[in-house]
Amino acid sequence: MSRLKLGVIGAGAWGRNHVRTAAGLAEGELAAVCDTDATRREQVCRQYPGVHVTADVADLLGRVEAVVIAAPAATHARLALQCVEAGKPCLVEKPFALSTRDAEAVARAGVERRVPVLAGHLLVFHPAVERLRALVQGGELGRIYYLYGLRVNLGQIRADENALWSFGPHDVSVALYLLGEAPVRVAAHGKSYLQRQVEDVVFLTMEFASGVLAHVQLSWLDPHKERKTTVVGAKKMVVFDDMEAREKLRIYDKGVERPPEYGSYGEALSIREGDIFIPKIPNVEPLAAELSHFVRVARGAEPPRAGADDGVRVVRVLEAASRSLATGGAPVDL
Ligand SMILES: NC(=O)c1ccc[n+]([C@@H]2O[C@H](COP(=O)([O-])OP(=O)(O)OC[C@H]3O[C@@H](n4cnc5c(N)ncnc54)[C@H](O)[C@@H]3O)[C@@H](O)[C@H]2O)c1
Repeated sequence: MSRLKLGVIGAGAWGRNHVRTAAGLAEGELAAVCDTDATRREQVCRQYPGVHVTADVADLLGRVEAVVIAAPAATHARLALQCVEAGKPCLVEKPFALSTRDAEAVARAGVERRVPVLAGHLLVFHPAVERLRALVQGGELGRIYYLYGLRVNLGQIRADENALWSFGPHDVSVALYLLGEAPVRVAAHGKSYLQRQVEDVVFLTMEFASGVLAHVQLSWLDPHKERKTTVVGAKKMVVFDDMEAREKLRIYDKGVERPPEYGSYGEALSIREGDIFIPKIPNVEPLAAELSHFVRVARGAEPPRAGADDGVRVVRVLEAASRSLATGGAPVDL
């Protein structure tokens, strides 16, 4: 089978990773790159001499079979609609759109034109997240009580989006993917310290109908670089630490038990301290897995793991969280 001709729109700090990955893909071929910035275009021309480089999206669309959109967030919905209109499957970087309305318009257009649209929820392609999901969905952790995520570091400070929209799509998409449900209520607190009205730090809480509580701490103004998710279940607890080079997942056989004969007496609760198990996680680069999957979806060979509907669900949470932020943290029902 011939390699699928891929195009990348936006070859900036993150987009260049898509460019590099697409160029090295077995199932796909980097056919064209579009960027409105002349310096960026020159860089791509120098590094990838055989690739068509343009400032014109329509020019790119005429030369490729599927498109990765890695331009700034404000352009996502418009560019995705343009791709769908041209009949080209597209993978839209996070955040999928900047409003639920725009996200729904993209999802609807994809369904109407039968063009696959993917949400760039990279972490659902992380092998440790896949394993974590199997643990959650397979019941090994028991009933899930709560989970929390930490996504903090120093920089990159953005002016066009706050920490919620910049980092939040990762943790929100992971929470929804792990739990297989969307929250019914969210609340978010945040503060803008470095720039006016761009929150550098956001504390987001999500409540799910199943009773699960999820909390996410997001900041680009923090001394530590942390990428961590902790899931606490009735039987076991798991920590996914993406800053660990090898031992990314730790499964703690720990919990609190109440022997049936003691019923409701708090003093009868007993702490169980069992083994810590570190599973071997395959060494797969999530971005390469995401793009390979995108090629298969574009060919109709498999359904999207993170489709436009998932993009809409995550944007809905972020939009509700923004409303909560604006009111100083008041809960918002979804
Ligand atoms: N999945 C991830 O882990 C991850 C990580 C970082 C960033 N991102 C996302 O990727 C997107 C890009 O982020 P970035 O850090 O690369 O931003 P960036 O500003 O460094 O790069 C954006 C590029 O898009 C170009 N551009 C702007 N408008 C364009 C248009 N209309 N057509 C073509 N090119 C255009 C700019 O010239 C620039 O080169 C954002 O949505 C960001 O949230 C995702």
